[in-house]
Amino acid sequence: MFADRDSLPYIVATVRETLRWRTLSPVAVPHLLTEDDWYEGYYIPKGTICIANAWAMNRDPRIYGEDIDEFRPERFLDEAGALKPLHPDTQQEGHASYGFGRRICVGRHVSNNSMYIDIASMLWATWIENAPGAPMPDNVSMLDDGLVVYVPTFLLLGFDSHILIPFTAVLFPSLARSPLVSLKCPTSSLGPRS
Ligand code: HEM
Repeated sequence: MFADRDSLPYIVATVRETLRWRTLSPVAVPHLLTEDDWYEGYYIPKGTICIANAWAMNRDPRIYGEDIDEFRPERFLDEAGALKPLHPDTQQEGHASYGFGRRICVGRHVSNNSMYIDIASMLWATWIENAPGAPMPDNVSMLDDGLVVYVPTFLLLGFDSHILIPFTAVLFPSLARSPLVSLKCPTSSLGPRS
């Protein structure tokens, strides 16, 4: 599947949009200036601790458009469905979620690759639908007002931890391809597709 990556731009765009839309570390990691600096007319003395607002950078309408709260992988694609060149202010990743400069996340290639292969494998092996009658997931289902963004609690195939919100998707195995026999969300009365 990695060999097919150039043919699967929507999945690459989905990885970028996931990290843009809900970065897991909205204020990244503090950096300390080792020398005096100027930024857009502001003098920043050596020793200052800078906290970069990656959350706001990932929501810059000049880069991403006005619909910044929408989850829309297409924003990284052109009209022909190919990946657009990345904006020069997006750290060669399409977002600021991996931090900046020399201390940018060294594990970003691992996480980009694992998110890509997870999404590609899920789409290959399953058919995903919203559970019947369930509302579409929305921003309320995310805790994103702190230092770390995460889905608070969910119910998944009977393995529950701190159930507060229902898991609203149903995953059906693509029977022709998947070794899975049956997957059914407890909130759904539907069974796998034939
Ligand atoms: C979606 C997944 C990930 C996100 C959003 C993320 C985000 C970040 C951020 C924001 C920083 C701070 C960068 C800065 O100081 O400007 C960082 C640093 C770092 N990350 Fe990640 N990371 C992810 C996955 C990983 C993985 C999978 C690894 C290891 C395999 C990793 C290893 C590191 C290391 C070692 C640093 C410190 C780099 C340094 O200070 O020089 N990260 N990451």
